[in-house]
Amino acid sequence: MLFNELETINLRPKPFEFYTAVDLWTDEHTSRQMLSFHLNGSIDVSSRNAEFIRQSVDWIVSRFGLSADSSVADFGCGPGLYAAQLAGRQAKVTGIDFSRRSIEHAIAVAGKNGLPINYVHCNYLEFETEEKFDLILMIMCDFCALSPAQRETMLGKFSSMLKPEGRILLDVYSLTGFAQRQEAAGYELNQMNGFWSPGRYYGFFNTFKYEEEKVVLDQYTIVELDRTRTVYNWLQYFSPEALREEFSSSGMKVTEIYSDVAGKPFDSESAEFAVVAERL
Ligand SMILES: C[S@@+](CC[C@H](N)C(=O)[O-])C[C@H]1O[C@@H](n2cnc3c(N)ncnc32)[C@H](O)[C@@H]1O
Repeated sequence: MLFNELETINLRPKPFEFYTAVDLWTDEHTSRQMLSFHLNGSIDVSSRNAEFIRQSVDWIVSRFGLSADSSVADFGCGPGLYAAQLAGRQAKVTGIDFSRRSIEHAIAVAGKNGLPINYVHCNYLEFETEEKFDLILMIMCDFCALSPAQRETMLGKFSSMLKPEGRILLDVYSLTGFAQRQEAAGYELNQMNGFWSPGRYYGFFNTFKYEEEKVVLDQYTIVELDRTRTVYNWLQYFSPEALREEFSSSGMKVTEIYSDVAGKPFDSESAEFAVVAERL
């Protein structure tokens, strides 16, 4: 019955109850849309705009003193927008991503430009390597999409993959960003201009806020003629203290805090912030 189906659609799951990032980033249709967002240098969707990335790479190279001897791992590298520029500055770069479409694009760009980047197609929660890195990146608030348990796994991996003097740079959503979010619900024919499917569909969206956990869920239920699926986009919002605490529980410490990964000074009003961390 339609009533019961709508009740199910509007049910609030437990924080991080379902992990569907793979559906969003690797589905044949949505991964194509995501790649086109990444490659549109004038918008901040999937990746930040081209000018920001250029500034960010400049800052990263100078702040971390990257040279031909430096090894960098970019977790969730997408089509390699940072990886290619960092490799262009001589760093030895490994890019990890589970979107085949993005990794194939990244490999093609690296090949065309003669950049010896090591692209690895895998889920970064399962990535293993013997290599140790001077710098580990996770950019565009990807850390926020992970559950507390997944973040612990990720930080454990980061710690084990760092050289003794190595650093981590990642960005997250702030509590200011959390305050700006509102709960919402609705539906739309071919929601988001056909983003979810090439055919006709009804897209239901629910934004749920979890005040205590500082989590937001953007939930999309896509109803097509022959299937219904739900994509859960979880976002953990952090205070600087909460993020420091997570690093410290994993044997690391936050040493610097900025408003973004281009080194903008920290501002508590910013909807995002970035940290540099190292092993204790
Ligand atoms: C928001 S995009 C950011 C891409 C890139 N860091 C940038 O700023 O241009 C997140 C990327 O992480 C990848 N990703 C998300 N979860 C992943 C996972 N569990 N394993 C590997 N890659 C993942 C997605 O495929 C996507 O390319």
